[in-house]
Amino acid sequence: MSSITLGIETSCDETGVALYQMGRGLLAHALHTQAAMHSEYGGVVPELASRDHVRRIIPLLRLVMNEAGVSLDQIDAIAYTQGPGLGGALLAGASIANSLAYTLDIPSIGIHHLEGHLLSPLLSDPAPEFPFVALLVSGGHTQLMRVDGLGKYELLGETLDDAAGEAFDKSAKLLGLGYPGGPALARLTSSGSVGTYKLPRPMLHSGDLNFSFSGLKTAVLTLVRQNELDRHGTPLNDRIRADIACATQDAIIDVLASKACASLTRTGLKRLVVAGGVGANRLLRSRLDEDIGRLGGTVFYPDMEFCTDNGAMIAFAGALRIAQGDRNYRFNVKPRWNLTEINGTPGIV
Ligand code: KG4
Ligand code: ZN
Repeated sequence: MSSITLGIETSCDETGVALYQMGRGLLAHALHTQAAMHSEYGGVVPELASRDHVRRIIPLLRLVMNEAGVSLDQIDAIAYTQGPGLGGALLAGASIANSLAYTLDIPSIGIHHLEGHLLSPLLSDPAPEFPFVALLVSGGHTQLMRVDGLGKYELLGETLDDAAGEAFDKSAKLLGLGYPGGPALARLTSSGSVGTYKLPRPMLHSGDLNFSFSGLKTAVLTLVRQNELDRHGTPLNDRIRADIACATQDAIIDVLASKACASLTRTGLKRLVVAGGVGANRLLRSRLDEDIGRLGGTVFYPDMEFCTDNGAMIAFAGALRIAQGDRNYRFNVKPRWNLTEINGTPGIV
């Protein structure tokens, strides 16, 4: 029987646990999101996140083992998110993963969270072949990465300030929407129209593949304030908020789609892989399908449930790395960690 890898994700506010078997695929996965707990505070509270991961990991592990009909002694390796992310949250997953691996006398491996994201579309059918360009759009990162194979990553461009997800979240907050703001803002757009307001497209014509989203948040703030002034301080009505949400989403997606097209033209590659939470955005998906299709390219997405943080992508990346002989040599976590640092590493240390 080919080997089974347990994956544990705890980098931020989602506890994800999954079992992946080479040759068979994903056996089971489970997720607990802390969104409701943090929404009270308008954002992630790191200490609360760490405590909750500690509480959730073992029950989720029991759940996936039951679902897959797999017992502890059938697990051959354990993969966990080593970074980047919140230090305490990472430590919660890393500690349990390493203790369990020690007790079961099996290897453990620390996985780069973004590697998990960018390989997640490979869990879908059809899966993209290497090489491809990955557009990583999450709450903390916005990057275009050339991917030639496992551990062969070249950074083509990235955000100079806020991430695309952060732009969604901060704009949503200005519109009085809860946390996480991205999905809430996207929902609000259904009752608005795009043409009412026009927001800037930062760095659209910068000639490189970098992004900048912090100015957009300021422009949304100005728009909100202006409308409040016009209404003599009375709160914005739903119609105005929906129109501002439309303008915001349109500006972010315009820039992402345009740079994604430029990345394919520049590299001569035909496959674009979209990964990370913002990849769940339906308008982004339809814009990319249209624009990249016009260039003769194809876009690959993870299944909706694997766009945002999850254990499946960590189990999968871990299985691939374990299969090529990578192992943990030292137990540590890396709250700050560039993906290109892992290029060509035989084992992540
Ligand atoms: O990848 P992810 O789950 O966590 C990080 O690693 O950051 O991404 C979370 C981000 C948040 O900023 C969230 O607002 C955004 O993804 N997001 C969305 C949508 N769903 C999640 N942004 C726009 N539209 C969505 N449908
Ligand atoms: Zn993520």
